[in-house]
Amino acid sequence: MRLVSDPVAETIRRYDEFAEEYADRWLNPAAMAEQRDFFMSNLPGSRVLDAGCGPGRDAKFFTAMGCAVTGIDLSSAFLDIAQSLVPRVSFARMDMCHTAFANDSFHGVWACASLMHIPHGQGLSTMKELVRVLLPGGSLYVSVKEGEGRGFDERGIFYAYYHLEEMARLAEASGLEVLRLKEVPSHTGHAVFIDLFARRVG
Ligand SMILES: C[S@@+](CC[C@H](N)C(=O)[O-])C[C@H]1O[C@@H](n2cnc3c(N)ncnc32)[C@H](O)[C@@H]1O
Repeated sequence: MRLVSDPVAETIRRYDEFAEEYADRWLNPAAMAEQRDFFMSNLPGSRVLDAGCGPGRDAKFFTAMGCAVTGIDLSSAFLDIAQSLVPRVSFARMDMCHTAFANDSFHGVWACASLMHIPHGQGLSTMKELVRVLLPGGSLYVSVKEGEGRGFDERGIFYAYYHLEEMARLAEASGLEVLRLKEVPSHTGHAVFIDLFARRVG
């Protein structure tokens, strides 16, 4: 395994470098359509946090559905693309592990393919942070790559992989009621992801 002192910083540096190329591929509105619809069907209000928003595909959708969206990411290049895609949305450069939001700020938190870039040691505290900013009864979506262990891919992107049981344990330990937890093939068929839909209990 490659030794890197800060795998998240290294990952963000790489995302900044190929942000345009990533956006060309992933701004396809068909990607994640089923997941967005299921999330919307469980959303008890309009305030949504898109945590690790990337170039803004889902922020654009939720805004079009009438939600008041806040998008956060650590990649400035992605934030620039997202801001020009959806000027109405408030985007900020912020770490989803420690956000600046007050408790109970959002009716929904959407974290699509972002928690998987955070080392396992910070997985639970990051889930708890996402739950902290969620209103009781609020809706959470988290997706990660299915697999064993951790490591960098050929592009220099760090992944912490998860199994279903680990995601179930994270959800329970974070005070969540699971609505749906399952493995799904990625939009392009290149990987298997785990989708977790949950509700904040207390
Ligand atoms: C695979 S991309 C997914 C982007 C977007 N959610 C989507 O589905 O297209 C992962 C995103 O997570 C962001 N990210 C990684 N670690 C983060 C952190 N600690 N805080 C905020 N964003 C982070 C990356 O910059 C990147 O935009």
